[in-house]
Order: sequence, then structure tokens, then C-alpha cells
Amino acid sequence: VKHLLGIKYLNEADIDLIFETADHFKEVINRSIKKVPSLRDITIANIFFENSTRTKLSFELAEKRLSADVINFSAGQSSVKKGETLIDTVNNILSMKVDMVVMRHPNPGAGIFLSKHVNASIVNAGDGAHEHPTQALLDSYSIREKLGDVAGKKVVIVGDILHSRVALSNIFALKLQGAEVKVCGPHTLIPKYIETLGVTVENDLRKALNWCDVANMLRIQNERMEISYFPTTREYTQQYGLNKKILDSLDKEIVVMHPGPINRGVEITSDVADSKQSIILNQVENGVAIRMAVIYLLASKIK
Ligand code: CP
Repeated sequence: VKHLLGIKYLNEADIDLIFETADHFKEVINRSIKKVPSLRDITIANIFFENSTRTKLSFELAEKRLSADVINFSAGQSSVKKGETLIDTVNNILSMKVDMVVMRHPNPGAGIFLSKHVNASIVNAGDGAHEHPTQALLDSYSIREKLGDVAGKKVVIVGDILHSRVALSNIFALKLQGAEVKVCGPHTLIPKYIETLGVTVENDLRKALNWCDVANMLRIQNERMEISYFPTTREYTQQYGLNKKILDSLDKEIVVMHPGPINRGVEITSDVADSKQSIILNQVENGVAIRMAVIYLLASKIK
């Protein structure tokens, strides 16, 4: 397979291989070897039709650490604004001898669509509320690093499950690796089909946190809502915000995660986000090694 379009298309062995490869790259980076020559003959275009900080920078850094040639494209400053289509845009980029396209797009399935219409390796860097596969991979990798294994761990994903590609990709990845998964949030932000994915639902935050080993706190994705799904931000914070008082009152010391960007004081307070139980910046650090692994493995299919 020359694409990474979603975790849905991977199996457990694929994830094991990505993690073993990421282990290797992380060890290399930790030895202060910041660049390896692996992809000197590969050119990668990062095309972003939605805003990003972590994913965009992390992919670019991963590509540069593998010695690939990199070009970056932001739709807002491009001829997309003059009416050029996605396929035309990408085919024009590919005619400059680009081998791989990393794409973030607001439409679910945009990467799948592109993979059927252009001749390049496509990596999904987030497609609407559908999937964010490299985020889920770096999240599971960070749990494995912190707790030794993902299998058997209890993970609760808290927040706006309905609009979250991070939630969906995490559910697929965690279930593949044998974790128990619960989602927690207001009824209005949990899709009806969610239990068909093998997860359970808990609407009470304290109960969910007392059950779990790991809590992955998500932000409310107002940008994907045409109407307000939950009465007020303050109400959300009162019922689902994680603060230090709640964290310290739990039966055990849980691991706290967040994919970013954080809305401090809404879904998580600063004293939790910056606490020793938080692995939020470890997630970001691991994102580079995971993306190096994904790009390296895909490039071996197109060389
Ligand atoms: N986690 C994540 O995808 O962050 P960005 O939107 O900043 O890339």
C-alpha cells in the first residue's frame, strides 16, 4: 500500500512496524543525529487546506530529517482562491516530479478521493471529521512509551467526539492494539453509531476518569458546527473540563493527553496540562518520529 489514508485501512502488524521504525528514528534523533540520508531522492509536497501548527511543522521536520526535498502549499495563498480544483492543483504539483503528497483538507474522504485520481503516494494529515491517522499513531505510541503497552489499557476520549477525526482514528488504533476504549461527553457530541465501533459511552466525567488509565482530552470543534450543540462553553467546562481538583481526587494517577491545540481553561486547566501526569509535549515530540516512520515506509513502496 503506497498511501496512509486512515487507521481503518491498517492492521495490527502495520502499526507494530510503524512503531518499530519510529523507535529506530527516535533513537537516532536522541543521539543528536538530526538528519539521515534515507530519502535523498524523494520529493514531498505538504498541501494544507486547513490551519495547522503541530501536524504541518512535524511533517516538514520529519521529511527534512529524512533528507527529502520538501515544498509547502497553503491553500489560502494559492490559486485555489482563483477557482482551481483539488485534482488540478495536485496534478500541477506532481508535474514538478513530486513523489508524495501530505494533505490536510476540511472534507471527509478528500485523501481517498485524491488517491483515486492522481498518481502519487497520499498521506492523510486530517480530513474533516473523518480521520487523522498520524495523530492516532503518535497517541498510541506515546501511551506505549509511558505505560509499556497499549494492550489491556483503559483509555477514555473526552469531549467533542462527533466532530473529531482524532477520536475516530484513536478508536480504530486503540481497538486494533487491544485497548479498552470509552468515550465521554455530552449526548449531543457523541454520535449514535459510536458503540458499533466497540467502545462504551459514559456521560459522567468523574466515572469515566475513575475507570481509565489514560484520558485523552479533546477540544470542542466550533469550526465544524453550523449550530451550537451545547448551550455554553461555561456549561461544558463545568461538566467536562478537567481541573487539578478532579485529577487529584481520582482513585489512581492517570495519564493525561491532548492532541492540541489546547483551549486552556475550557476542556483542561493549565495546572493539569502542565502537570507531571500530562504527556502532551511528549505526544508532539513523538509526532516527528512517527511521521518519519510513516514517510520512510511509504517511500519504500514508490522507490
Ligand atoms: N493535533 C493537531 O492536528 O494539531 P494541528 O491542528 O496544530 O496540526
